[in-house]
Amino acid sequence: MFSQKDGVLTVEDVPVTEIVEETGTPVYITSRARLEENTRAYREAFPDAGLLYAVKANNNLALMKIISSQGFGADVFSDGELYLALLAGFKKERILFNGNSKSREEIEIGIVSGVKFSVDSLDELKTISEVAKEYGKEVEIAFRINPDVDPKTHPKIATGLKESKFGLPHNMAVEAYRVALELDGVVPVGIHCHIGSQILELSPFVHALNRVIDIAAEIEKEGVELNFVDMGGGLGIDYEGKGSPSPADFAKAILPEFERRKSELGSDPQLWLEPGRSIVGNTTILLTRVNAVKKGYRNFVAVDAGFNLLIRPAMYGAYHRVAVANKMDRGAEETYTIVGPICESGDVLARDRKLPKVEPGDLVAIFDAGAYGFVMSSQYNGRPRCAEVLVSGDRWDVIRERESYGDLIVKQKIPEWLL
Ligand SMILES: Cc1ncc(COP(=O)(O)O)c(C=O)c1O
Repeated sequence: MFSQKDGVLTVEDVPVTEIVEETGTPVYITSRARLEENTRAYREAFPDAGLLYAVKANNNLALMKIISSQGFGADVFSDGELYLALLAGFKKERILFNGNSKSREEIEIGIVSGVKFSVDSLDELKTISEVAKEYGKEVEIAFRINPDVDPKTHPKIATGLKESKFGLPHNMAVEAYRVALELDGVVPVGIHCHIGSQILELSPFVHALNRVIDIAAEIEKEGVELNFVDMGGGLGIDYEGKGSPSPADFAKAILPEFERRKSELGSDPQLWLEPGRSIVGNTTILLTRVNAVKKGYRNFVAVDAGFNLLIRPAMYGAYHRVAVANKMDRGAEETYTIVGPICESGDVLARDRKLPKVEPGDLVAIFDAGAYGFVMSSQYNGRPRCAEVLVSGDRWDVIRERESYGDLIVKQKIPEWLL
């Protein structure tokens, strides 16, 4: 899907130079074919599972429309994500409202929308029960369990360690289900965990699954009838070109264990998964233009996108492959560090990369930017956000317009006494 023609990077059949002539830079560009390849890979690997797309990874409506049309449900983490997911066509029956700090208002919106909840605390359970009774509804819930499993990933995206803020400690789970069974307005029907993100070893998933099924067996004895066991998302992608497990590898590791352990249960729960990064991560490049090349302590290439548009390198020390998009047929000549325009020393997109000779005006492509890219963007330093484009074969469409100066002030107000 990402190739080259006459030295120019192409996305499907479109040279990126054709796109930037109209949109300018920076711009996020997504391949529809790659996105559908990823959703298909999950469907084929897990034909019987409930697949919920993790909206937090990329909430562009056009992309989510493609994902929802492939039979996915959605994992949402806020009322805003719920709003976007419904707009994108995800069915309410297949939406799970996650989150460790839901406000009463958010809970009300979720209940009125008719979605299921993953409950993070007993306080939240109480609120859900109260609101459900107010509206005369019965809400299907799962508890998010903290299984205390090391996912062997970056500490900032490890969520299932005992010190993490997410979920109920696994040894408190049975008691929580007991409380839920006693309350009106809530019906426990599932169990949920999510151990982290960008996980490249599969054994932590199996470890967590076993923890969760141990609890499932216990809560069944209390009278819970389980419809689903949700193991969250987290499958990593190949940022560094060193390989990563595919959904098929993931299925091979987890499905036999799920089937084996499920046979110990009285009920017949469906396996649910919540992939985000492994659906959208490798579908998208961020294309940025070189403003200046400067020989200093390092050989710096200053481009027009920084951590305002892609925060992963600054936030997690994340690695993204880069290429000079208008010199794809040239060999590496020099070592460069790609930096953004933001007034922070940490605004480094890629360090010490061997590239063809870079000059002002060149285009630098940053690969695998589809997950936790645009969604985590900001207007820091007064920079309007960039456009997003979707390529499908030889056509391309703007799926989010570039922001203008007006967007920098759209909700600001100057008090009358200052006018
Ligand atoms: C509850 C939950 N589910 C799913 C995901 C998606 O994870 P990933 O994008 O790594 O697949 C996340 C990410 O943080 C999450 O918190």
